Amino acid sequence: MQNRDFSEALDAAITGNRLNRTVSKKLQRLLNKIFLEGPLRPLKNFANGSWLEHPLHPLLTDVPVGAWTVTILLYLAALLFGMNELGIAIALAMGLGILAALAAIATGFMDWMDVDPTELSIGFTHAVVNSFGTLLFIVAWALLFTAQWQVSVANFIPALVGYGVIAGGAYLGGTLVFRFGTMINRNAYRSGPKEFTPVVAFEDLADNKPTRFVVQGQPVLLVRHGQRVYAIGAVCSHYGAPLEQGTIHGSTIECPWHYSRFSLEDGSVKTGPATAPVPLYETDVKDDKIWIRVLRVAQTVSPH
Ligand code: FES
Repeated sequence: MQNRDFSEALDAAITGNRLNRTVSKKLQRLLNKIFLEGPLRPLKNFANGSWLEHPLHPLLTDVPVGAWTVTILLYLAALLFGMNELGIAIALAMGLGILAALAAIATGFMDWMDVDPTELSIGFTHAVVNSFGTLLFIVAWALLFTAQWQVSVANFIPALVGYGVIAGGAYLGGTLVFRFGTMINRNAYRSGPKEFTPVVAFEDLADNKPTRFVVQGQPVLLVRHGQRVYAIGAVCSHYGAPLEQGTIHGSTIECPWHYSRFSLEDGSVKTGPATAPVPLYETDVKDDKIWIRVLRVAQTVSPH
């Protein structure tokens, strides 16, 4: 009998739920239709954080967690020490948390619609749990408002329960990133030849056809434009798509899965949803061969 730790048992229970699987698959398909295949794709890329060169969702989730922690502390101060004048401060902290949580939910769904099937159910549960927690804070805020900012146990209870629910949602978010590797840079551990290394005969590399080579164990994409040769990582930083199956657009290559575009010149992201660049290699042509050496990978910008 296989021993499972708590996290594995929880993941198995969630992914084993057929209703969850069915609903999340349908919703993912619908979001793909609306945001990936339609004219709203720039909106999705914005929500993914490509413009920020960092995923937007994890930045936004920090705001409600902080604001609602302040909310709970102010509530405790008000209820335990009779500081009823804290009602408006509580409403402000709670309201800020609600607004940021709504933005976090929207950006989270834009990230979730790209996840692999194994992460779909857990991501969906993470969203549902956090949405429910947010709803409880909205109820608490409304009760506080109708009580004219008078703090009471009645408006504290939904906030306290919501805080616990959000903690559960955060646990699942952590599982997604730290156990499943969702949204991590797929080139985080790449390295590459530090010294110029021969890859292929210049004449054997077809013009304008992205081609993958494995050089010292690293997947490298070569693209030849006439006499010029580009070399970047062959794995999309977003979800690991094989970039040799992508499409060349001028001096960029478009990923075949979610259409991120990377510059062939420097590996940078030109269009999301990717937020991290792909590795970059310096090229040289010597003795009719193409040589490369690493110029930039995630853990070191310039090893030379
Ligand atoms: S794998 Fe998603 S854009 Fe490349």
